[in-house]
Amino acid sequence: MARHLITSAIPYINGIKHLGNLVGSQLPADLFARYLRARGHEVLFLCATDEHGTPAELAAAKAGQPVAEYCREMHAVQAEIAKGFRLSFDHFGRSSSPQNHALTQHFAGVLADRGLIREVSETQMYSPTDGRYLPDRYIEGTCPNCGFESARGDQCDNCTKQLDPVDLINPHSTVSGATDLEMRDTKHLYLRQSQMRDELQAWIDTKTDWPVLTTSIAKKWLNDGDGLQDRGITRDLDWGVPVKRGDQDWPGMEGKVFYVWFDAPIEYIACAQEWVDAGKGTDWARWWRTDKGADDVCYTQFMGKDNVPFHTLSFPVTILGSGEPWKLVDYIKSFNYLNYEGGQFSTSRGRGVFMDQALDILPADYWRWWLLSHAPESSDAEFTWENFQSSVNKDLADVLGNFASRVTKFCRSKFGEAVPEGGAWGPHERQLINDIQNGFDAYQTLMDGIEVRKSAAALREMWADGNQYLQEVAPWTTIKTDPEAAAMQIRLALNLIRFYAIISAPFIPDASAELLAAMKAENAGWPDDVESALTALPEGHAFDVPEVTFRKITDAEREDWQARFSGTR
Ligand code: MF3
Ligand code: ZN
Repeated sequence: MARHLITSAIPYINGIKHLGNLVGSQLPADLFARYLRARGHEVLFLCATDEHGTPAELAAAKAGQPVAEYCREMHAVQAEIAKGFRLSFDHFGRSSSPQNHALTQHFAGVLADRGLIREVSETQMYSPTDGRYLPDRYIEGTCPNCGFESARGDQCDNCTKQLDPVDLINPHSTVSGATDLEMRDTKHLYLRQSQMRDELQAWIDTKTDWPVLTTSIAKKWLNDGDGLQDRGITRDLDWGVPVKRGDQDWPGMEGKVFYVWFDAPIEYIACAQEWVDAGKGTDWARWWRTDKGADDVCYTQFMGKDNVPFHTLSFPVTILGSGEPWKLVDYIKSFNYLNYEGGQFSTSRGRGVFMDQALDILPADYWRWWLLSHAPESSDAEFTWENFQSSVNKDLADVLGNFASRVTKFCRSKFGEAVPEGGAWGPHERQLINDIQNGFDAYQTLMDGIEVRKSAAALREMWADGNQYLQEVAPWTTIKTDPEAAAMQIRLALNLIRFYAIISAPFIPDASAELLAAMKAENAGWPDDVESALTALPEGHAFDVPEVTFRKITDAEREDWQARFSGTR
């Protein structure tokens, strides 16, 4: 058995995330974590809120709250919603934790000692109207790289290029809209990423098994123009990790904080420390220090494509540049965007479905299934209510749910609420077991490779095989002439329900638990092979008819939701 460290990109604290955010990091990370745990591996699955920087400050100001209080409340809100979606984090931390403060200052100290940080006197955008400097999201303008008109000061959402506010064309303040910006002299710290270019290139070149989406973005910025540029890692903000060199003050840097993208990935490590300090674990170094056992760990990160440059370049510079034995990521799984009904999800316009709203209208499994089975892997994907309705109704209600309810109800009415006795398997059963064994092998290979959509398709295929079998052997007909054969067919079908419940749990954990409980299946470990899994429930084993596991979405509901989330509010 192996040890797997899994992190999801940590969501910004500012508000509740939409389904596109969920499917781009937290949800597929949870799928993988649940799968690996089910297979008996040791897993540490971490996530947190990303609490610093301009998104937090701007949102707190809008809410009229002190930023620390705003973050405390929003962390609790996000944690609750994550529970609602059954995201099985071992710890859901906070990038504003004391652990992350100390660790961020530590990294800055060692990077400075190793000559990888330089002090730069520069001019910076200052807004007299707002009475402040305008870092990152306080400023927007046209991207110098691609011409996108609402590029932010720190990154262009259109072409993913990392920017500095001074790069923007026609910049304006996002607080007041002011364009009468002036340049003022100030001093900042820069991470000398350029020094690490060759080392990074060599490291990325070894990652031949990474998704093309990940490596293409990394290579693009490594080889772009003059290559990897040095990055400003400090900001003139009040809220954040104060700039220190280890635990020493940093002369000239008083009143400044580290840039949010410097401290946020460090929270992946600090989160493991928080996990220990919260009494949930005993040893974080075993997961994060290669001198303390972490060289056996397989570390996988999940994120949307806009996060890739920070995880393939900036954070590895922090890790490699420190010269300390920290664990480097082994595999980066990145995702494209999920669009909403022909456009984009929009937080500001309330367009699309947000995580809290989704849980208000349907249980988590419905969303998990649709999102994962339509994960934006090879290209952007689109959520439409029609597709959602038809996928849920077909896959979950007609195929899986219907199978479980038909089989258990038929058994109850003809044989009672226990697995019936019956004869030996015939050619139909052999064929079914063969098909499902092939499907199961494919499913496991796809899940090992984090091929999310294809895994869902393989799972759906196994559900369909069961339905087709039932259709073919038709126990409701068989029983009229050969009750013993009908009993055998039903015994196999009851075992299939148990098997489906186990292998579907990473996708739909609640429905799986419900089905397992109905089958009164105590020893529900991950199956070794299909044949023995399908004989696990012996004759005489009692079961209950499960409640309606999945209901159908009606046309009226679909129309109602379509109107409600269109963003016209
Ligand atoms: N908060 C960022 C986002 O939502 C992700 C941060 S990931 C980390 O895009 F690496 F910084 F932690
Ligand atoms: Zn751009």
